[in-house]
Amino acid sequence: MSFVVAIDGPAAAGKGTISKAVARHFGFAHLDTGLLYRAVGAKTLLGRDAVEAAQALTPEDLEDNDLRTPEVAQAASQVAVIADVRSALVAFQRHFAGRDGGAVLDGRDIGTVICPDADAKLFVTASAERRAERRYLELIEKGHDVTRGQVLEDVVARDTRDRERATAPLIAASDATEIDTSDLSIEQAVAAAVAAVSAKMPG
Ligand code: DC
Repeated sequence: MSFVVAIDGPAAAGKGTISKAVARHFGFAHLDTGLLYRAVGAKTLLGRDAVEAAQALTPEDLEDNDLRTPEVAQAASQVAVIADVRSALVAFQRHFAGRDGGAVLDGRDIGTVICPDADAKLFVTASAERRAERRYLELIEKGHDVTRGQVLEDVVARDTRDRERATAPLIAASDATEIDTSDLSIEQAVAAAVAAVSAKMPG
């Protein structure tokens, strides 16, 4: 059986946590598609051409432990506006979605472009302030030297770039269920997501 769950939304809205929990709950595989763009962004920081890096990307590149830094996040958002980078990454994502046993993919354009026929689509949001606060706490815990103001600025800059780009901009699919996590605990957000996905399951 294949069952595809598409989870989109802006940076730090809780997509990653929700996607992993949904995948675990249903026994599905999970792909964080942001990692593909981060891996390409990281290579451009080392001087590589973005399109060539995207075309040569391997699954091992996603295992790089340094992909979660604010610098790489901005570089990812920058390479993500390039149409040829995006098209180089489509096949990998669709192949993952097509696997037997079910798949959860999270990103920005999964429900709109990568898997427009996904069985269940969620759009996870939260206010920019809440998202920045969560990301700030995460980065501090990992030992990064950042301020709240910088993190909010980064989140807003990425949102604007991700929403306004010409190719596959961040936007909710018309048939997505929206979950605003601003005032939800992790448990509440996960429960809402699991319920929305269950509602789309046959039988
Ligand atoms: O989800 P993330 O924060 O790891 O994503 C990093 C950047 O990658 C994000 O700012 C935009 C880009 N991205 C994208 O354009 N499309 C996706 N499906 C996933 C991420």
